[in-house]
Amino acid sequence: MLTDKIKELISAEVSHFEKEKGDKKSITIAICSQKGGVGKTTTAVNLGAALTQFHEKKVLVVDLDPQGHVEKSLGSVIPEGMEYTPLSSTLTTKKGNILSSIVQTKIDALHITPGDHSLYETEGAIAGKIGREFILAQSLKTVKTQYDFILLDCPPNLGNLTINALCAADFALIPCEMSVLAFEGVTDLLNTVETVNERLNKTLKILGVLFTRVDGRNLTMNQLIEENIKNYFKGHIFKTRVTVNTDLNKAQLEGLPIFKFAPSSTGACNYESLADEITKKVRRLDA
Ligand SMILES: Nc1ncnc2c1ncn2[C@@H]1O[C@H](COP(=O)(O)OP(=O)(O)OP(=O)(O)O)[C@@H](O)[C@H]1O
Ligand SMILES: [Mg+2]
Repeated sequence: MLTDKIKELISAEVSHFEKEKGDKKSITIAICSQKGGVGKTTTAVNLGAALTQFHEKKVLVVDLDPQGHVEKSLGSVIPEGMEYTPLSSTLTTKKGNILSSIVQTKIDALHITPGDHSLYETEGAIAGKIGREFILAQSLKTVKTQYDFILLDCPPNLGNLTINALCAADFALIPCEMSVLAFEGVTDLLNTVETVNERLNKTLKILGVLFTRVDGRNLTMNQLIEENIKNYFKGHIFKTRVTVNTDLNKAQLEGLPIFKFAPSSTGACNYESLADEITKKVRRLDA
């Protein structure tokens, strides 16, 4: 059942924004789940694209996963001759600034950190460092006034990079597939979010659970999972659900956001509506 702490974490009152009034400051969202293949990257990329396309926001997607799927999902966009610092180097260099690890995509207002296989080693390399949980937060400091949203695409584990994401974030967005095993993963993640909030990042909140890859034909299973999750999150499940849609898969293979690949698909419709829901929610909290 919900602990009091978790109830607080999913509370709609977010005092954090009040502190930041006046200065434009990014809203940073960690998209995390230790379960693989639940739609973290698909969500990071297409939510980012929707925020730029439909809400005129400037967005940075930071790929913390050594698999490098963000860059694969948006195509390679590093101009020839352009020098950039791989994220793994930024995170392991003293006073590393993420600015030198950012590149543009084909969409003007959507920037990313390119895929970086060496992030596998970064997990271990930062383990012995003082303040190891805040390395990403520190490296993001200078770009916080340059983006409306920073989306952190986490690897499928609860290791150092995910903890860094939770320490750098205002919110955690938790994609959850409609399966019993995915539900178990969500409860583990909740405990981690609770601990990070208690010990490391007092302003971290849960933005919501996003049901992904929902198969409308599995009505009984969907209902069962939904009831269980609702017990945990009460009203903090996104109204938007991302249904199974092969266009999302094909778009990723083509290296395109869904809005460019299949603008009238259900996947495009789902991610447009998620961006609407998130901007409204954040505006309400920001008022
Ligand atoms: N709603 C959907 N319908 C159909 N396919 C989807 C959907 N969402 C994601 N996929 C596909 O499922 C696979 C896994 O998705 P994705 O890469 O977004 O998951 P992930 O959580 O980031 O995985 P990992 O943990 O490995 O990083 C991809 O091939 C993606 O194209
Ligand atoms: Mg991924």
